[in-house]
Amino acid sequence: MKKPSLFILAAVLSTAAWAQQENLGDTGGLASLRGVTPLQDTRPADDLKKFPREQALESDYVYQPPLIPHNIRNYEVSLNANKCLSCHSWKNAKEMGATKISVTHYVNREDAVLADMSPRRYFCLQCHVPQANAKPLVKNDFQRVDSLRQQ
Ligand code: HEC
Ligand code: HEC
Repeated sequence: MKKPSLFILAAVLSTAAWAQQENLGDTGGLASLRGVTPLQDTRPADDLKKFPREQALESDYVYQPPLIPHNIRNYEVSLNANKCLSCHSWKNAKEMGATKISVTHYVNREDAVLADMSPRRYFCLQCHVPQANAKPLVKNDFQRVDSLRQQ
């Protein structure tokens, strides 16, 4: 089994060496929709997006994690703290005037309902994102599912 893997390693290394020669750290002629910046240059950061409070963030399909209708800058979600739960947990939601996390957030992957938030729902931003009022980069004809479409 040793020979084939050595062979693959050699092939990968020679391809990498070739790629380096042909493509001297540049984008290889690829133009991005966000503009062209060769890899060796540093582009100025984009302006921070605004998350307008008044925008309606309705769902487009059933079982979509609702979009976050507020700013989340500096909200820590880590081993030590979960800022989101300080408003959205069942304990705090009422007092903070926030929607409480739904029952699905208490179910673990064995389908057992836990007494506290399921670890697989802890990192809220895996599923929920704030939506900026940004111009789409690509045209999109996506239609909301019938049951959520307003006449
Ligand atoms: C200071 C309290 C507070 C914190 C912290 C907070 N939220 Fe919220 N959140 C709210 C309130 C209040 C609402 C209700 C809408 C509004 O007023 O903006 C809301 C709405 C939402 C909604 C929409 C719920 C729905 O039913 O459509 C989601 C999703 C959400 N927040 C996710 C998060 C996530 C993820 C975090 C952490 C990154 C977070 N929130 C942190 C107060 C908070
Ligand atoms: C694995 C994906 C996932 C993660 C992680 C997750 N959510 Fe959700 N969330 C959903 C989905 C899907 C829904 C809509 C269906 C449902 O209620 O389960 C939802 C619904 C919600 C709602 C609306 C509840 C309602 O009754 O309308 C709130 C608020 C919310 N989540 C907050 C949070 C917060 C805060 C966290 C982190 C502590 C979090 N979610 C983590 C997927 C996720």
